[in-house]
Amino acid sequence: MTLLLSLLFFGLVDRLYTAQVKPQIANRLLITNNPTLTTIALEKPFCVFGSDSCSSCDVYLYGVDVASSNLVVVDDNSVPLNSTFQKTNGGRLAPYKVASFGLPNCKSPAFDSAQDLAQIANILDKYLVRIGDNVTCLTDPNYLGICNSPLSEGTSYRFRYILVNSTGKMADQTLWSDSITTRAVKDMSRIDTWPGRRSGGMIVIASILSVLVFFLLVAFAAAVLTSMMGESTSDANTATYESRISQQASSETYSGVLRGSSLERERYVPKPQA
Ligand SMILES: *[C@@H]1O[C@H](CO)[C@@H](O)[C@H](O)[C@H]1NC(C)=O
Ligand SMILES: *[C@@H]1O[C@H](CO)[C@@H](O)[C@H](O)[C@H]1NC(C)=O
Ligand SMILES: *[C@@H]1O[C@H](CO)[C@@H](O)[C@H](O)[C@H]1NC(C)=O
Repeated sequence: MTLLLSLLFFGLVDRLYTAQVKPQIANRLLITNNPTLTTIALEKPFCVFGSDSCSSCDVYLYGVDVASSNLVVVDDNSVPLNSTFQKTNGGRLAPYKVASFGLPNCKSPAFDSAQDLAQIANILDKYLVRIGDNVTCLTDPNYLGICNSPLSEGTSYRFRYILVNSTGKMADQTLWSDSITTRAVKDMSRIDTWPGRRSGGMIVIASILSVLVFFLLVAFAAAVLTSMMGESTSDANTATYESRISQQASSETYSGVLRGSSLERERYVPKPQA
């Protein structure tokens, strides 16, 4: 009910302020899995450009990477630019022409007739425009038309519709849409299989715990290493001591020399005066 009311409300707002409308991402009731890695589905501009009398008008859709500072879509004479996906480096340098279609007729959609899949596809095609849909035109050297080439993954874009009348000039335009980001391959929140998904707080706690575990492991490894090194040095001391004793015990001569040397040493030690 709330959804229905808000849909009605925003529909009304759209009608009241036609020139201030932004292109909208396709309603989730119509299409799921949007955006994908390389495509974004938008709602076509229904009842957006006031004059439905303009029967021979076309709508051009322009797209631009949010990184581009150039947002120009018409020349000084209001003639729409013919910039392509290739020439603008996929919208990174300037807006490119994504698609063009006839001005959609402003009347209520006929969803009752959506009986089979083909009809549903037709209806979706009638109400939605899918950016990034053509996977062949970019690599087709003979194709010079508008190329609706796949978008880059994890990249943010803005879109704008312009109305072009029979003289080939822009007669009206929407605002640029809010930025819409294609999915990224490493989108953790989407491939996470944890039931109920992890909240930000849980992720923080998990990171702190893993850091603590890391320090514990380092401390443990350090303790093990220290004790091993301590053992080996005391082993070495014991071995030297034992070998000295056995040498003294086995070799009389050697101990004699030792004793002699100690006697000699005594001789040179200055005796304290009595
Ligand atoms: C774009 O192409 C059309 C048709 O080829 C042409 O009439 C128009 O002048 C071109 N626009 C610009 C800005 O050059
Ligand atoms: C896709 O590109 C091919 C050229 O490679 C072109 O012939 C075809 O019309 C395009 N499809 C659409 C739906 O624009
Ligand atoms: C087409 O649009 C241009 C620019 O807004 C305007 O000057 C011209 O009168 C329009 N022509 C028609 C036939 O509506």
